[in-house]
Amino acid sequence: MLKQLNSLLGEYRLYAILSPLLIAGEVMMEIAIPFVMANMLDNGVLGSGGISYTVKMGCLMILMAVISLIFGALSGRMAAKASTGLAANIRNALFDQVMNFSFSNVDKFSTASLITRLTSDVTNVQNAFMMIIRMGVRAPIMLIGATTMAVLISRNLSLVFLIAIPILGVALFYIIKNGFPRFQRMLTHYDTMNASVQENLIGIRVVKAFVREDHETKKFTDNAQTLRQAQFFAEKLIILNMPIMQLTIFGCIVAVVWYGGNLVIGGGLEIGQLSAFLTYNSQILMSLMFLSMIFIMCVLSRASVTRIQEVLNEISDIRDAADSSPCPKDGSIEFVNASFSYGSEKDNLTLENINLNIRSGEIVGIIGGTGSAKSTLVQLIPRLYDLSGGQLLVGGHPVKEYALDTLRGCVSMVLQKNVLFSGTIRENLLWGNPDATQEDLDRACQAAQVKEFIDKFPDGYETLLEQGGTNLSGGQKQRLCIARALLSQPKIIILDDSTSAVDTATDAKIREGMRQELKGTTVLLIAQRITSVCDADKIIVMDNGTINAVGTHEELLQSNEIYREVYESQQKGGLPQ
Ligand SMILES: Nc1ncnc2c1ncn2[C@@H]1O[C@H](COP(=O)(O)OP(=O)(O)O)[C@@H](O)[C@H]1O
Ligand SMILES: [Mg+2]
Repeated sequence: MLKQLNSLLGEYRLYAILSPLLIAGEVMMEIAIPFVMANMLDNGVLGSGGISYTVKMGCLMILMAVISLIFGALSGRMAAKASTGLAANIRNALFDQVMNFSFSNVDKFSTASLITRLTSDVTNVQNAFMMIIRMGVRAPIMLIGATTMAVLISRNLSLVFLIAIPILGVALFYIIKNGFPRFQRMLTHYDTMNASVQENLIGIRVVKAFVREDHETKKFTDNAQTLRQAQFFAEKLIILNMPIMQLTIFGCIVAVVWYGGNLVIGGGLEIGQLSAFLTYNSQILMSLMFLSMIFIMCVLSRASVTRIQEVLNEISDIRDAADSSPCPKDGSIEFVNASFSYGSEKDNLTLENINLNIRSGEIVGIIGGTGSAKSTLVQLIPRLYDLSGGQLLVGGHPVKEYALDTLRGCVSMVLQKNVLFSGTIRENLLWGNPDATQEDLDRACQAAQVKEFIDKFPDGYETLLEQGGTNLSGGQKQRLCIARALLSQPKIIILDDSTSAVDTATDAKIREGMRQELKGTTVLLIAQRITSVCDADKIIVMDNGTINAVGTHEELLQSNEIYREVYESQQKGGLPQ
């Protein structure tokens, strides 16, 4: 963990070292001042030193106070630089890591939890780190220094601490032992609340359309309430710390004044010494209080550190091929006895016994009910997920032999749930191919039937898209995503129900356009409408995670019951043709 911290500190390491050093200087001054003061009182004011000695000691004290102040201010600044720098570096490292995650890594953590880890958890660590490099140095030095001075002044009076310290120790032990699980529970509730916020913000249009605001608000309030309870449960333990500390400090002061006063009257102690002893008394107990606060902070942040480490140490379960392998030579795809499960348990298979051979350049339609694992099947081709069993060959080689970048550069996928990013239409299109010329853009947009509506926008290609492309219609978004995929001139293109929001006539035009634009590219077309796939070279009928049949439209109409039923229902109902 220390090694990880060291590398995460990076360029801020120097500040993290300087800050404690400066604090050490500050504390030493603070310890020396009462000693000088005792001298001034006993030897100057009350003793034989006279006015000149008193003034000399007074000036020395002022000098020390100024030095201590400067050191303190500088160290605070350094500590702030180090801790904010650390937080920035942790966030960057986490973000990098998440970008490398496979889909199943993200599934494992959940998006909401990743957000909490990148925000609140990092802030907790940042605060704890700041506290540790400041207080963690200050408190022990002060404790040792002040105790030494107190024992030097009066060994008898120091016995008071022998009673106070064990009391504090027991109280602290109790707080730390019970605090950790409470804070861990609190953070889990944070995840739940974030999940609820995230879900509602993404789905705000659906929430409004179904007039579910009240229901969702109630759900959120319940979450917030549970979080409040968990926070209160954890914090109420922590606030116990303060009264226990104060009780001990005041108890000690009373004991010292009582016992020390008697010693002064009996002549065993000077007045200046008693006053210095009282200052050391406060310093010792204050440093103990700081120590306890540091312990509590560590407990609090330990839960966060664990959660951050889980992400940093997670190994993306899709490992890149070691050396950069060549591009697939063509767009052929072959599944051999392939099976797949989303979880780690192999008995709950989403895909089972898949054997399939697609030649390069073929146009293949995929039909099947919702949940029949059509999307799952095609996601395996660009390795968004890895197979659980069997083999998958692209261009004649197992997919695992290609470098991920190369493979995904050759396989373009238009996902069922499409994502556009805020920016202009041109910027979004260029994701497909950053080097595309205007001519390339025009051709791809023509083929995907995007051109007709881009030309209607006053700003054309420079039209700004809002986050998620909310200022476009569903069909427009789908077509834009197809154009984006076409631009990369892939060897394989996969369209996962990508024209569901497009009317039948435009759908046919898009297919025709693609055929023109992508000569030699293998096309996988998942569709609900038979008309979208009927002119494909072959059609795959999926049923419940297995391939039910493969054939042309005519063959399947003859021989396959599922296909015939779907066809007839779409004909009869006059539904989408
Ligand atoms: N990320 C996921 N994690 C776990 N199960 C999933 C995930 N995605 C899909 N599934 C499950 O896998 C099955 C097939 O889903 P999918 O391939 O999306 O079907 P289709 O695209 O044919 O509608 C469904 O039962 C679905 O619940
Ligand atoms: Mg699907």
